[in-house]
Amino acid sequence: MIIYKSASAIKSYLQKKKDSGKTIGFVPTMGALHDGHISLVENSKKKNELTIVSIFVNPTQFNNPADFEKYPITLDQDINKLEENGCDVLFIPSQNEIYPGTTSTISYELGSLEKVLEGAFRPGHFQGVSQVVHRLLDIVIPHDLYLGQKDYQQCLVIKKLVEIIGINLTVHIHPTKREKNGLAMSSRNKRLSNDQLSQAAKIYESMMLIRNEMIPGDISELKNKAIRKLIENNFKVDYVEIVETGTLEIQEKWDGRKSLTVVAAAFLHDVRLIDNLILN
Ligand code: PAJ
Repeated sequence: MIIYKSASAIKSYLQKKKDSGKTIGFVPTMGALHDGHISLVENSKKKNELTIVSIFVNPTQFNNPADFEKYPITLDQDINKLEENGCDVLFIPSQNEIYPGTTSTISYELGSLEKVLEGAFRPGHFQGVSQVVHRLLDIVIPHDLYLGQKDYQQCLVIKKLVEIIGINLTVHIHPTKREKNGLAMSSRNKRLSNDQLSQAAKIYESMMLIRNEMIPGDISELKNKAIRKLIENNFKVDYVEIVETGTLEIQEKWDGRKSLTVVAAAFLHDVRLIDNLILN
């Protein structure tokens, strides 16, 4: 695996590869890699001749400075995992490579996508995500981009960003990798104790409760039942909502046909966890 720190160096290396007809698959990450990230690498390897992973903990997407400071960093283990799984190129830029001395920030027209759910609870978060992904795409210029459904709203935001900047690539969204108890794998899980890791599975259980009990008609009581289950288990709930798959529009009723997804965000102690599940 080749490791690049410089944007211009990786750019010219990849240009040569593209000129010789190689297709590039790209997996942007913030590191502290787990099997969810690795599943994206595996999918890129199936389709692309060259797989690029980036690791950059992007300060502009953290609305909470303490969350940024406590973000887990495990670079040596990450490099080993990527080597073992056949990643071709790792890009680890410094802050200066990504944000070279510029104070002007572009604002992206993300519409209602950045105002609801994660957008409402984390002001500015999706502008920060868009900023860094735009910069990374400009450097890597991949043919295929691999994202995880775990961050479903982020997937929709990045799809919209790709449209806005008009870059020609295919976005692939892959299913959420889970622990045996159902907990979605996440870098933030590294901040939980063993007891907390088993408690954290209640998020999955409460989403499954909705999936198992959902019948056509009013679904808001079912949502409240899931919220109560989390509160009883010591979570501080930001939201649990049943939304239309694809638009994120909050639904109070179900006609028995429309595809719905439950999205959830809750704190366990000071660790904020998010998850989602397609219901039907
Ligand atoms: P990060 O949280 O490191 O996630 C990198 C990619 O891995 C994202 O596409 C995310 O959805 C995916 N992922 C995370 N957990 C997963 C799981 N359990 N199963 C499958 N895929 C999973 O998301 C970010 O970084 C950043 O916001 C980024 C896009 C890199 C911009 O900074």
